[in-house]
Amino acid sequence: MPTLPTDLPNTAPPVSFETDILPLFRPMDIQCMRGRPTGVFLADYAYMSAKNEGGSFAHTNDVLAHLRGTGGVPRMPFGGPYWSDESIALFQSWIEGGCKP
Ligand code: HEM
Repeated sequence: MPTLPTDLPNTAPPVSFETDILPLFRPMDIQCMRGRPTGVFLADYAYMSAKNEGGSFAHTNDVLAHLRGTGGVPRMPFGGPYWSDESIALFQSWIEGGCKP
């Protein structure tokens, strides 16, 4: 029987922090947020992939909420221009893929 494309394993590489996510941040995003009282370290993989006690990616989910500006939080980057839907979707895929380096 011929192999249908749908039978093939999914060989797409997972979304990577270094390759796909880090380049989306501008130097001023990293700088601005690093200086916040709460300290949001957008370029720091350990920070961005940290899990809370419940096992969810707490920091990065908060970043995602701010990229969307949903749930009553101010939308980022502060003052815009905001990320495209594609970039936000890529960021979400990175989280869903387990925040790979
Ligand atoms: C992709 C870019 C950015 C992301 C993902 C991001 C993410 C975040 C997050 C998660 C918070 C909540 C934590 C906190 O209040 O400290 C926040 C707040 C804030 N960020 Fe950003 N940020 C970005 C760009 C920027 C830039 C470029 C600036 C400065 C020009 C900035 C200024 C602020 C300010 C002033 C707040 C507090 C807003 C408020 O509570 O009213 N952010 N951001």
